[in-house]
Amino acid sequence: MPIWSPDSFRGCVDAQPIDYDDEALARVVARLRGLPPLVTSWEVERLKTLLAEAQAGRRFVLQGGDCAETFDECSPGAITSKLKILLQMSLVLVQGGKLPVVRVGRFAGQYAKPRSRPTEVRGGVELPSYFGDLVNRAAFTPEARRADPELLIAGYHHAALTLNFVRSLTDRGFSDLHHPENWDLSFFERADLPAELRDEYQRSSAQLAEALRFMEALGERAIDDLTRAEFFTSHEGLNLHYESAQTRTVPRRDGHYDLTTHLPWIGERTRAISGAHVEFFRGIRNPVGVKIGPTIPAAEALELAIALNPGDEPGKLVMISRMGADRVASSLPAIVEALRGRRVLWVCDPMHGNTTVTPSGVKTRDFSSILAEIERTFEVHHALGSRLGGVHFELTGEDVTECTGGGITPDDLDKNYASACDPRLNYRQALEMAFRLAARMKTVRASSRPPRG
Ligand code: PEP
Ligand code: CO
Repeated sequence: MPIWSPDSFRGCVDAQPIDYDDEALARVVARLRGLPPLVTSWEVERLKTLLAEAQAGRRFVLQGGDCAETFDECSPGAITSKLKILLQMSLVLVQGGKLPVVRVGRFAGQYAKPRSRPTEVRGGVELPSYFGDLVNRAAFTPEARRADPELLIAGYHHAALTLNFVRSLTDRGFSDLHHPENWDLSFFERADLPAELRDEYQRSSAQLAEALRFMEALGERAIDDLTRAEFFTSHEGLNLHYESAQTRTVPRRDGHYDLTTHLPWIGERTRAISGAHVEFFRGIRNPVGVKIGPTIPAAEALELAIALNPGDEPGKLVMISRMGADRVASSLPAIVEALRGRRVLWVCDPMHGNTTVTPSGVKTRDFSSILAEIERTFEVHHALGSRLGGVHFELTGEDVTECTGGGITPDDLDKNYASACDPRLNYRQALEMAFRLAARMKTVRASSRPPRG
């Protein structure tokens, strides 16, 4: 292995290379290095502590947001509704799992997208694929598809604007769970929500409010933990120029922190053990996620775990399995077995292994396959004495029509298909998913053994 530095990845193969003008890129990277960090090492270390607790069975992680954020959607409405659905889902999960939930948004930096092909052909014209707003633009013109390093600065700015709004919203008011009017469904005026889902949510939020009052009356200190709605940020650390430029040492702490986000993750397409992404992420102090799909050999999953967390530090490594509902039972057990004895937080992404294309060419995912992947993943961990410690969704607080099931038929898909990339659960589907998951967590709780060490 080479000696690690924030730039040592440059000597390794990048599976998703970007064709930049080197001089222009170097100028932008130098500017980005001088700008203030987006998050702090204290927050990063706090998240690591919470993830360690999730690993030990004392918390549950809810990670979610857009497949791809875009600069155009950096708006107060979109940000608020994303926070609200995450907050509401987390309350439902608190009820089901009787555990504090760690909320991690796929936001404030989810601007770079890996692609299955480097170029796209339309009407005989071949142009670079759209790699997300951090790299190029979606319009199918040579100008828009040119990799523009200035977008790294624009991405930083939009991430900062998003984060600023998230921080002010969560600091007071909106996410203070003592003000249920902020998280009550009536606040949303969702006429389209089925009556039973609305009743279920209202019943469970009333119970939660009652429980909060009861615990406070007892002077229970731990209540702070449950009621302070913190949000952490995460994104796929695909563009290593962006990540590396914001990676630095901080006073009175050892090592380097990637301060673009609290929890960066490595995608399924860039997790090669000798590749640039593993090289970069093995050296930073942040907790790091890694997506693993059904084709990863168990021995390679173990190699990844060792490379990314050589000291077996608690809360450091998040393995995000995304097998597809039909492949969980055949692919996941050997991997979980291979990692037995290592400290890993297991999270299930039930989205990326369940993408299908309709006969008319629309990418979609079905609610029942998404739920089935989570249920089967719970089963695998339970059977092996391991523990599923979190879930990872692509979702939005808006009424989009991108996934089927939960009120959306294949014929509805073109009504409001707004994703810049993969299909997301809409507001109703996301809330319904949380209820199904909460019900499942209740049964896991009823039959659980202590997690193995
Ligand atoms: C994603 O999370 O949007 C993504 C591309 O996932 P994966 O790397 O698991 O395919
Ligand atoms: Co996606």
